[in-house]
Amino acid sequence: MIRFEHVTKRYADGTTAVDDLSFEVSQGELITLVGPSGCGKTTTMKMVNRLIEPTEGRIFLDGDDISAIDPVQLRRRIGYVIQQVGLFPHKTVLENTATVPHLLGWQRAKGRRRAAELLDLVGLDPSVYGDRYPEQLSGGQRQRVGVARALAADPPVLLMDEPFGAVDPVVRDHLQSEFLRLQAAVRKTVLFVTHDIEEAVRLGDRIAVYGQGRIEQFDAPAAVLGTPATPYVADFVGADRGLKRLSVTPIEEGDLEQPPVLHLDDPLRRAAAKLAEEGARWAVVLDSNDNLHGWISTDRTGSSASGTVREHARRMDAWLPLGASLKQAFATMLQHDAGWIAVIDKEETGRFLGVLTPARLHEALRRSIDADAQDIPRTEVELETISLSRR
Ligand SMILES: Nc1ncnc2c1ncn2[C@@H]1O[C@H](COP(=O)(O)OP(=O)(O)O)[C@@H](O)[C@H]1O
Ligand SMILES: [Mg+2]
Repeated sequence: MIRFEHVTKRYADGTTAVDDLSFEVSQGELITLVGPSGCGKTTTMKMVNRLIEPTEGRIFLDGDDISAIDPVQLRRRIGYVIQQVGLFPHKTVLENTATVPHLLGWQRAKGRRRAAELLDLVGLDPSVYGDRYPEQLSGGQRQRVGVARALAADPPVLLMDEPFGAVDPVVRDHLQSEFLRLQAAVRKTVLFVTHDIEEAVRLGDRIAVYGQGRIEQFDAPAAVLGTPATPYVADFVGADRGLKRLSVTPIEEGDLEQPPVLHLDDPLRRAAAKLAEEGARWAVVLDSNDNLHGWISTDRTGSSASGTVREHARRMDAWLPLGASLKQAFATMLQHDAGWIAVIDKEETGRFLGVLTPARLHEALRRSIDADAQDIPRTEVELETISLSRR
């Protein structure tokens, strides 16, 4: 969909902003361009919609050399979202969103209908926000309007230059998950610039890690994190200590939670009573050797008064032995779409030790980071925890 062939950009003052860049992006891919300030990300983007012309090399859009396409025509095929959204202050949110359809000569009613649809899509109720002016919106809401506006004429390609860079972390987190949902629905080919590796990892199907004017690694997020191609990439990725610690921190017995435990031959009635007594919604199920079998939830124990746990227990495939890394634990949770994983002593015996929940995983990770920083054992770290629900 987008192809760079040996593209170089030298500015008049001699700065080489982009140096012999070649890469290809498929249709519907979301590529994040990540790197420190001044490494050539914005220059790369602006060459795609011809706000900047390359000094050397060629860029193709859907097979066409863009240097042969009229820039105005070209930009109709490319949505552009920047940090300083650039909304027209004297126009309403709905009018702002309908800008491109308007420029394209769509009928007014059709343009407004489309704008309303898109506002809805980015989480702004058009009947509430449509008639407001940009200054009446929060920063996060303005960014949403920027995204809606870029999508209004349904361009196949979207360029986003640090679109969420200026909002606070909580809003940013919302915008990121909203954008992922949106992208799953609209499947645009997206180039997304960020200087934040976490954002790049979260959003990108693939990540282009920039050094000075060059791409040091162009790969899936897991590959960039797990097997950095160069020391530079390792260093850049390593800026996120948490992710790095995840793979070197083993699961320890102290990290585990102890849910209610039932056995296969327990009568169902006793199982229901035990869950009720402990106020739990599920229990781990073990066989007669205390090896992990699976789990059972209250929707099963309450369903009939006779029989044993055996007939109603579900197998549990999300388990790991003690000593496996927190990264493996996290990957296992994702793989099985599980809210927790069981931890056993070792693979051969399978003796059940407890469960690791996301909260416990997070706690273990924080302990590990603090322990590393203070050079003390993990068990001695005292955590200050902000909790929403206090029991
Ligand atoms: N118009 C310009 N004239 C001269 N140098 C420029 C110009 N625009 C950008 N640069 C330089 O080119 C390099 C890359 O800039 P840019 O693409 O904006 O980086 P990024 O978006 O990654 O921060 C930087 O050294 C920057 O100072
Ligand atoms: Mg930039």
